[in-house]
Amino acid sequence: MDHFIYQAEELYAEQCQVAELAKQHGTPLYIYSRATLERHWYAFDNAVANHPHLICYAVKANSNIAVLNVLARLGSGFDIVSGGELARVIEAGGDPAKVVFSGVGKTVAEMELALEIGIYCFNVESAAELEQLSVVAQRMNKVAPVSLRINPDVDAGTHPYISTGLKENKFGIAMEEAEAIFLRAKELPCIEIKGVDCHIGSQLTEIKPFLDAMDRMLALIDRLAELGIEIKHFDVGGGLGVTYDDELPPQPDVYAAALLERLGGRDLKLIFEPGRAIAANAGIFVTQVLYLKENSDKRFALVDGAMNDLIRPSLYSAWQKIIPAIDRGGETLNYDVVGPVCETGDFLGKDRQLNIAAGDYLAIRSSGAYGFTMASNYNSRPRAAELMVDGDNAYVIREREKLAQLWQGEQLLP
Ligand code: LLP
Repeated sequence: MDHFIYQAEELYAEQCQVAELAKQHGTPLYIYSRATLERHWYAFDNAVANHPHLICYAVKANSNIAVLNVLARLGSGFDIVSGGELARVIEAGGDPAKVVFSGVGKTVAEMELALEIGIYCFNVESAAELEQLSVVAQRMNKVAPVSLRINPDVDAGTHPYISTGLKENKFGIAMEEAEAIFLRAKELPCIEIKGVDCHIGSQLTEIKPFLDAMDRMLALIDRLAELGIEIKHFDVGGGLGVTYDDELPPQPDVYAAALLERLGGRDLKLIFEPGRAIAANAGIFVTQVLYLKENSDKRFALVDGAMNDLIRPSLYSAWQKIIPAIDRGGETLNYDVVGPVCETGDFLGKDRQLNIAAGDYLAIRSSGAYGFTMASNYNSRPRAAELMVDGDNAYVIREREKLAQLWQGEQLLP
């Protein structure tokens, strides 16, 4: 459930009217709901309330510091994949002792930053990375807490671009190599083994792949115990899907209950890295209709938002619901909702039934995750503004980019 609901024919974000916000702040515009973010975070936290756990929100989904701060205030941890994300977490008042650092290509500078700040754990993705981390930690006279990310080789049944747990993917350490690399980690002087970790993909709508992965990981944990390697936490990654259209992914409580049951009596702290499930339906992307046009085949709604603002439809053929900020009722027509970018692939939605006129505002739902964070300046389009509503207040949490910011840092030749 989220807090973007119609009151009569007007769409509201909590107690703020969306069309009014669009008029006041301009479009394209991202609008997030604080109450929805909090509700989704608590859905995870309450689901595992009686078991040692840490919810590490995946920063890549939406990294605005106001979003991070709202979650940090609830006691959230964070899953990061870069020094930039770590810096954002700190800027937002997040607790570094609750940060896990994922990603296949951590640089020496990023390792140094994370060791200096003192994070909870590095999710190490290869033998080479482990060796590098050990060298850096030794040089800094620090001990690096690690978990090894294991690729459990299960099919997440999701879009190939966001499936990560198969052998053919670049992520994690192959299960066959896991024991040898754990033994190596045990030998290394400045490495402290904390846990194991896996993340099999994103937008999963079934529970089975999670449980298959868990079974393989628990079997590994048991084998490691026989080798005298004690695992303190199991990081199950993120990946729980959301409803964009008519998908019915398991709710966090059902998902967590299934994992806890599989865990049996094991004394393992559970770490979750949800991104989408917390942020996606806590945000909408609002755009204004510039022109309507039709040819013999199709009707187009040309809007002021584009693939540079919200790339999911273009990149993954993702379907996101498009609804009017003010519902005119009456008869609808079939439109492709397309942006001004010079690419055939620049669309936000195809074949949508809408009753609209130029000047109307449209909301693209489920845009709170992998929306703004994947935005670019392609076609020299300034990035959209971001708002967060909290009851009947709306706060600008990122100003619309100004034209001069587009070439900031660029230089003419002498
Ligand atoms: N942990 C790790 C190690 C990850 O790689 C990811 C996402 C997450 C957690 C969070 O997954 P989530 O709970 O959000 O599914 N841009 C794509 C999604 C890419 C996901 C990448 N990794 C999209 O818009 O669908």
